[in-house]
Amino acid sequence: MKLSKRLLWNSMAVSLAVFVAACSDSGEESTAGSEGAEGSAENEGGEAVENEEEVTIVYARGTDTTPGTDAVVEAFEEKFPHITVEQREMPADTGQSHDQYVTAFSSQSTEIDVFNADVIWPAEFAQANYALELDRFIEQDGIDMDAYFPGTVAAGNFNGRQWAMPQYTDAGVFYYRTDIVEEPPATWDELIEQASELQGEEGTDFGYLMQAAQYEGLVTNAIEFISSYGGEVVDEDNNVVVDSPETVKAIEKMQEIVGSEFVPSNILNFQEIETENAWIEGNAVFARNWPYMMSSSNDEERSEIVDNVEMATLPEGDEGSAATLGGWMTMINRYSEHPEAAWEFVKFISGPEGQKITAVEGGRAPTLEALYDDPEVQEVSSLFANPEFRDVLQTAVPRPVTPIYPEISDILQIELSTALTGDQTAEEAARNMQERMEAAMGE
Ligand code: GLC
Repeated sequence: MKLSKRLLWNSMAVSLAVFVAACSDSGEESTAGSEGAEGSAENEGGEAVENEEEVTIVYARGTDTTPGTDAVVEAFEEKFPHITVEQREMPADTGQSHDQYVTAFSSQSTEIDVFNADVIWPAEFAQANYALELDRFIEQDGIDMDAYFPGTVAAGNFNGRQWAMPQYTDAGVFYYRTDIVEEPPATWDELIEQASELQGEEGTDFGYLMQAAQYEGLVTNAIEFISSYGGEVVDEDNNVVVDSPETVKAIEKMQEIVGSEFVPSNILNFQEIETENAWIEGNAVFARNWPYMMSSSNDEERSEIVDNVEMATLPEGDEGSAATLGGWMTMINRYSEHPEAAWEFVKFISGPEGQKITAVEGGRAPTLEALYDDPEVQEVSSLFANPEFRDVLQTAVPRPVTPIYPEISDILQIELSTALTGDQTAEEAARNMQERMEAAMGE
């Protein structure tokens, strides 16, 4: 496993050590805490069977190519037989899903009760009054928010209140074929070298796959390049600092990869789905995607490359390896007519039982740190079993947290895309992103 020496994890390693020490001291307490929460759910569930009315809630979520979502819904319905969960599938493209939710919620539609929210939405949805605050539920059921990775809780917190529960976390990871690759590339330059050299081995058509279409996924890929070269989009104080030599270098590296012979000629149309399809068909040596693709890679029914895939951290730029923080939360529609049943579902899906199913069946990375010690979760991939992966998750680079994120993302998508099609230089892209973001954020 090529995880060592990759990131600037010294400080994280220290806090992880402190965390681990704290856990072993108070291990009983935290176990008791989560069992307590589960126990009360069961009691309520048990009583509910006899006393409570049958209710159907609608759960909207993005396309899931893994069995994860169905499995978790099934487990919930078994435990809470009076609640039926009707699933509504939204588009795989997070931006398109976002726009459909905005249309529904801005007209105060009651149709959806619970929905999955990308980590970039809670601030906007809270501000727009689309979501129900969860604090009273969290308090009432004694949910231990400290059991979650802090960054995932923070993504659901806006103006001091909790609007979303962390369901699973994402960080960009690097996939490679173990039947082709001896040692995965340590740097972007080594990737370029190996991808051109190994393309064609074992019937592969491509050396590398990434998400380069003009959509949110392009922003996440670009932030990884920018951070790996030491650049930033906004700094700690929310100043726009994207116009830098580091960003220029990063965009130039992306241009080099996207313009190479070892990526599909239509790489500029690639989102996660295209990446996954080409990957599980055995068409590529390396790929960048989120952790869930490990589950697809080992799916006997769909994949041609079962047991031939391993994950590692992404290649390094001048500054190290970086992963963008992604992930999905669960939220409740402010106008839901079934807030109690909706919360019951949110609590289950974001709690230890639901997250374990989502990890084991769906390959998704839990937001509850303790689950990484669970042997079944560790079996999902050697990355989940590797303690350094928790550091990757915790040091993953967040996107700017702002209620106007969609506007910021549009600027980045357009400017990056124009650079990748060769219609502007990396310098122009960096300068335009800076000017347009400053104007948007200054308003
Ligand atoms: C994944 C991430 C999400 C991100 C999206 C981009 O679903 O979890 O945060 O916005 O990919 O395509």
